[in-house]
Amino acid sequence: MSAAPQPSVTVRVPAKVNVQLAVGGRRPDSFHDLANVFFAVALGDEVTATPADDLRITVSGPDADQVPLDGSNLAARAARLLAEHHGLRPDVHLHIAKDIPVAGGMAGGSADGAAALVACDALWGTGTSQDVLLELAAELGSDVPFALLGGVALGLGRGEILRPLPVGGTFHWVFAVADGGLSTPAVFRECDRLRDEAGHGSDTASVPDPQADPELLRALADGDPAALAAALANDLQPAALSLRPALAATLRAGADGGAIGTLVSGSGPTCAFLAKDAESAVSVAEALAASGTCRSVRVTHGPVPGAAVTTGG
Ligand code: C5P
Repeated sequence: MSAAPQPSVTVRVPAKVNVQLAVGGRRPDSFHDLANVFFAVALGDEVTATPADDLRITVSGPDADQVPLDGSNLAARAARLLAEHHGLRPDVHLHIAKDIPVAGGMAGGSADGAAALVACDALWGTGTSQDVLLELAAELGSDVPFALLGGVALGLGRGEILRPLPVGGTFHWVFAVADGGLSTPAVFRECDRLRDEAGHGSDTASVPDPQADPELLRALADGDPAALAAALANDLQPAALSLRPALAATLRAGADGGAIGTLVSGSGPTCAFLAKDAESAVSVAEALAASGTCRSVRVTHGPVPGAAVTTGG
């Protein structure tokens, strides 16, 4: 008689783009207060949890070699945190099927952390409430709670205090993936340096409190791509462009190719392009691919839901 198959649980989790990223001053804890409008897109990773003798991470996909396999991996940290919360051992094999660009400003590592929380919770039958999962996610990183929630949400504080936002339709996006990543802390540091250099100062006393833009919230609620395109804003964009000047050519190529809105995604270097409809997204992608200003191009849409079990559990 053959052994019963091991149970396993697979969770799909989306990448994000920040349609507004307003960055306040540097706090004493060196984080920045944000008004961060997260938008989940249908480009995602899959994390599969299988019982194992100890904690093990494997990764597949085009960027697999750039993902750390040690304890610093957010999926590994998530498994340890959830196990500790329930007084268990984190004995699990987590396989990450990676499709989100690594260090690209699309919260790929955070997505894997969120997916690992959901996958391990289902595998171990620990039945953790959504509120506790969100708290554990916030301990892992500023962008992890949103990957649990998905949709569109305003993130305040470090980005971890979330309020879901109404959205009136599907928006069509194109992403231009750059060669190599950008370090998020380095981009925040550059944002501070540029503010200091301009004489404005970079601490909380010098920078106005970040606020969500009412026009942007209305554009999302109305499902109006032209109005959303006009309101797209990322305070980290000058810092990302300062560290990676070549991104200016990528943004121009997407605009010349018919995108109605362009911006750097989060801390970059991935660039995001809003198209007026699905057909236009395909021609923007063709123009970007022909421009030679990026490594690869992805066409997608959103919003989509957050981390959810697809098989097992
Ligand atoms: O929270 P997370 O670990 O994803 O943040 C990574 C880094 O990004 C932080 O160490 C910090 O340098 C920067 N950061 C920030 N303000 C935020 C979020 C992140 O300065 N609100």
